[in-house]
Amino acid sequence: MLERTFVMLKPGVLQRRLVGEVLNRFERKGLKIIALKLLRMDRNMVETHYAEHKGKDFYDKLVEYTLSGPVIAMVFEGEEAIGVVRRLTGPTALDSAQSGTIRGDYAARTRLNIVHASDSPGSAEREIRLFFTPQEFCEWDDGNQDWF
Ligand SMILES: Nc1ncnc2c1ncn2[C@@H]1O[C@H](COP(=O)(O)OP(=O)(O)OP(=O)(O)O)[C@@H](O)[C@H]1O
Ligand SMILES: [Mg+2]
Repeated sequence: MLERTFVMLKPGVLQRRLVGEVLNRFERKGLKIIALKLLRMDRNMVETHYAEHKGKDFYDKLVEYTLSGPVIAMVFEGEEAIGVVRRLTGPTALDSAQSGTIRGDYAARTRLNIVHASDSPGSAEREIRLFFTPQEFCEWDDGNQDWF
């Protein structure tokens, strides 16, 4: 099924100059960028985005890290895009994220795990709406070539 999913490159990706490398992981899989922007989230937006984690022991540090610099927000479209992106991203915990996944290859701390990706159709819809207005989407086609 054709799906849309939300991905956010966390501040460390810009700080470490890894934007191109991380974007490449998604692009080479054939995922289609249909919205993308660089922004600095404010505290209210971060707290909304991570509301499900409020009260957990890592919450305050997660919020501070997310506020430590700009992020890149994007929406990808593709067949089964939500699961495809989560598998490319890799598991949350440092000791589970295998080499070959983005987190496995670039993250040395669970909190500093490089990317956020929607984990379900419900969170994808909610997160896309939090970050983008309908006007910020760009629909495009690949021509008639069946690349992927
Ligand atoms: N045990 C932990 N210690 C430190 N930070 C954590 C821990 N668990 C989660 N986090 C941080 O909180 C974020 C959100 O946690 P969540 O459980 O939603 O994982 P996720 O869905 O894999 O990650 P994300 O929502 O960022 O895509 C993680 O990406 C990570 O930065
Ligand atoms: Mg999550």
